[in-house]
Amino acid sequence: MVLVSIFPLLIILHLVLGQRDNSDNILANPQISTSDNEKLSMELYAKAHSYLSLSRAFKNYTLEDTISLVNQVSSWKAPQELQEKFPYYHAGYDEYDRPVWIAEVGKFDIPRQIRKGPEMANNITQYLFQAVLRIGESVLAKDTPTKEVREIFGILDWEGFEFAQILHIPTVRFALNLLQTYYDFLDLGLGHAVMINTNHVTKVLFETIQPALGESFRKIEFFKSDKAEWMAALQKLLPSNAIPPWYGGSSDFKPVQVFG
Ligand SMILES: *[C@@H]1O[C@H](CO)[C@@H](O)[C@H](O)[C@H]1NC(C)=O
Ligand SMILES: *[C@@H]1O[C@H](CO)[C@@H](O)[C@H](O)[C@H]1NC(C)=O
Repeated sequence: MVLVSIFPLLIILHLVLGQRDNSDNILANPQISTSDNEKLSMELYAKAHSYLSLSRAFKNYTLEDTISLVNQVSSWKAPQELQEKFPYYHAGYDEYDRPVWIAEVGKFDIPRQIRKGPEMANNITQYLFQAVLRIGESVLAKDTPTKEVREIFGILDWEGFEFAQILHIPTVRFALNLLQTYYDFLDLGLGHAVMINTNHVTKVLFETIQPALGESFRKIEFFKSDKAEWMAALQKLLPSNAIPPWYGGSSDFKPVQVFG
């Protein structure tokens, strides 16, 4: 029964994945705003530019273009609803000074938002960009004159992830489009990722998008819902003050920043 229901999804995924170069860039030409109501540092612009100029979607960007984009993304006010429904947090740093970022993505009901129409899809893209910018700031914070940090450590909790999430075709198209347009940011910025509480839906999803993830796929570790197993893995990879207590970390854990 399950196999029958995922079949159309797999066909769509392969169709969409086959058209990597035709994907319309959702935000490759974002509206440029020159407002700089919030003064950001030149270091942040330079750091952002060092990633953008290596990416496919933004390789043409001049430093000026990057500054406009960063200002626009930074000053955007996310709708309350997105902040409530899609929280994420900066838990700490690992031994290589890579920031540890955590999201309970299994609970993210993206189809529900996508059904609201293209403006909402655009807002989700903006929301994601803003998250990436904040992640970038947390990476920059650990740079010193002699050492640059360029990667992050991610923990994604897939608890609650359901077939309904990957069977909504417009959502699948939206997500794949994002992935195809910006997948190289994973190559550029992902140091290590740990997926916890994965289930058969997550498995189907990743088996299907694996080609689009390229080399980054090797940086991802997958754990099912065996709590003892993934807690032990996290404890091996991270200092306990960078792990929330509910994931096996220390009881005096304090997140650096929480969004949403
Ligand atoms: C980037 O540059 C190439 C070649 O110079 C050009 O063909 C292309 O249209 C430019 N893309 C954007 C998004 O400006
Ligand atoms: C998209 O975000 C903008 C800025 O927060 C907001 O004004 C607009 O209502 C949002 N659109 C939808 C469909 O939620």
